[in-house]
Amino acid sequence: MRKMHLGSLSHGVGGHVAGWRMPGAETEKERFEKVAQAVKTAERGKFDFVFFADAVNTGADAAPGFIVRFEPLTLLGALSVATSRIGLVATVSTTYSEPYNVARAFASLDHLSGGRIGWNVVTGSSPDAAANFSREKHPPHAERYAMAEEYIQVVKGLWDSWEDDAAVADKATGVFMDASKLHVLNHAGTYYTVKGPLNASRPPQGYPVIFQAGASDRGLELAGATAEVVFASQWFKEDAIAFCNRLRDQAEAAGRPRDAIRILLGVSTIIGETREEAQDIIARLGAMVDPVAAMRVLSDRLGADMSQFDIDGPVPDLPPSTMMQGHARVLQAVARRFNLTIRQLRDYAAVSSGHRVLAGTARDVADDLQDWFESGACDGFAIMTPFSPQPFERFVDQVVPILQQRGLYRSDYAGTTLREHLLLPRPAHPATRKAVSSAA
Ligand SMILES: Cc1cc2nc3c(=O)[nH]c(=O)nc-3n(C[C@H](O)[C@H](O)[C@H](O)COP(=O)(O)O)c2cc1C
Repeated sequence: MRKMHLGSLSHGVGGHVAGWRMPGAETEKERFEKVAQAVKTAERGKFDFVFFADAVNTGADAAPGFIVRFEPLTLLGALSVATSRIGLVATVSTTYSEPYNVARAFASLDHLSGGRIGWNVVTGSSPDAAANFSREKHPPHAERYAMAEEYIQVVKGLWDSWEDDAAVADKATGVFMDASKLHVLNHAGTYYTVKGPLNASRPPQGYPVIFQAGASDRGLELAGATAEVVFASQWFKEDAIAFCNRLRDQAEAAGRPRDAIRILLGVSTIIGETREEAQDIIARLGAMVDPVAAMRVLSDRLGADMSQFDIDGPVPDLPPSTMMQGHARVLQAVARRFNLTIRQLRDYAAVSSGHRVLAGTARDVADDLQDWFESGACDGFAIMTPFSPQPFERFVDQVVPILQQRGLYRSDYAGTTLREHLLLPRPAHPATRKAVSSAA
């Protein structure tokens, strides 16, 4: 029986802009023990992975979960030794980093963790980041994707610097590394010139797992060609099914199998002992929302300053976002479908940064996840909670056992690497691939 995949989307103090104000909610973003505790909860729930979102700019008016946070690769290093089975995934922007550094960091992390690392490739949506990287301007959307495409090619080339069995360390002959298994990249492209080789052995997974979350036409094209896991934000089941079909078509067009990509939908879960309690949690959270912070979340998601419009008027038609086209499209569809004002849409966005909100009892949540999964709307879910740690503990202690009883979800890890959890093949080194095809 096909099993669903679950990842945890960590927002530290929570995905709801006012989540941190709830009694007992975590308020410290930079206490390792707290982060590790949440990751161990996910590992107890046999989650495929935990994911740390990131950006390279901030401000006092950002959503509380985003103002300050651990640099995610540093965090993954610490978590690699504090956990043993769960996959560890972090965002790094291709627009604001160098492929050599990033290939090296991810290779080291994959070694440190025994093959449990994933990289969420983003092109960076906020123009404010440019000022932190000696750039005059944020590259346009299409150019960011062109850069990302070449960047991924370079990083994979660097990971392939050494064949898997290049390390010999033969004390008798004095051969340390087999030089015939060294492949110098010598990449010279439109945006990057990188000679190589990388000073890291090939990662245990071949390549750490490539995640992506862009949903624009260009984002889907890149994902179809290179992503192994795609995060998506979808509010309606039929749209999610269409999204999956489109992405699988893109994968096929890029010469990959239709099932090459695991598609996981972001869902914010609010679980009560009763449905009334779940609604009460939403109402209590809603009463504490800072309207400025919530409007900023909505503006970022829609790619336009929404405070310039009448807050009790309809959501206007906006030009295509240059920030996050996928989120903008989905939220505008929600506004149209439910005939929402800007204030109402802002309040939705405050709950989950724009992801679908699933509120009810543990059984309601399990039923909904099962229904979407069995309808072909996804391969699994990226679970968010409005605050930390109690709502996520509730998910693991109450929803996971129901999914396990129904045979929809693993009761223990079968493999040791993130690729094995996700049932993704380990990419062979290109030299081996060539040898196999020329022998055939
Ligand atoms: C579940 C999920 C997680 C995301 N995490 C990040 C992140 O950590 N950092 C980031 O800059 N963008 C993040 N995004 C945004 C996308 O990666 C992407 O950059 C954005 O949607 C713009 O691409 P698009 O215009 O192709 O949709 C996330 C999106 C989703 C759905």
